[in-house]
Amino acid sequence: MKILAVMGSYRKGKTIDTLIDKAIEGAKANNDTVEVEKISLIDQNIEFCRGCMTCFRDDPSKEMAKCAITDDMNTLNPKILEADGYIFGTPVFMAHETAIMKRFLERLCYVFAKPAPKRTKLVIPKDCPMPRSNRKKKAIIITSSGIIKPRWKKFCDDATPLIKQTIKDSLNAKVVGTMYAGAIMKLGVDKYCNKAYELGKQLTS
Ligand SMILES: Cc1cc2nc3c(=O)[nH]c(=O)nc-3n(C[C@H](O)[C@H](O)[C@H](O)COP(=O)(O)O)c2cc1C
Repeated sequence: MKILAVMGSYRKGKTIDTLIDKAIEGAKANNDTVEVEKISLIDQNIEFCRGCMTCFRDDPSKEMAKCAITDDMNTLNPKILEADGYIFGTPVFMAHETAIMKRFLERLCYVFAKPAPKRTKLVIPKDCPMPRSNRKKKAIIITSSGIIKPRWKKFCDDATPLIKQTIKDSLNAKVVGTMYAGAIMKLGVDKYCNKAYELGKQLTS
């Protein structure tokens, strides 16, 4: 099983980086055939999506559409395609994912999604994104906040639902677990390490 971990914090060695590492430990403990690659978005040269719709218009039978931009996404996209599971981690900034995480998600959206073929009686409107690939994948999402305590998560974490929906629509990834490390300025990171480890185990169980 191949796992791609996507670290969306601006700070290495801090909350999200640490919790992703714990989740990776958990994922590996459960299954010794697991191969993990972790990327820190801050190290990647990822341009903003230009909204040119090249990917949107590309052949819907392709699992991975062409992007008009040449940058590190050219190397990352095949890894995203190959992975069986994902770990996404981001701190909440003003209740949302970091800008580097949003930029990454915008860039992968229609590369891995195609427009829905026709209006149906279901809730999928025409041209909404649906996965190009039929291969089902799994994911976990880790978020953290500085101030807002876990019990107030719903007022502070719009990152989890955004990531959840994007990866369902584009990567065909089902989220099998999430965690919110709230109020880390008061509570610290250590308190959340076991939870991250168990979450990682969930990904590979
Ligand atoms: C610009 C900015 C906005 C932030 N917005 C929030 C927020 O809305 N709610 C909150 O509780 N913490 C907020 N924080 C605190 C971060 O969520 C916290 O520092 C982060 O989770 C730590 O993760 P890291 O150690 O991986 O950087 C914000 C921090 C910054 C710098």
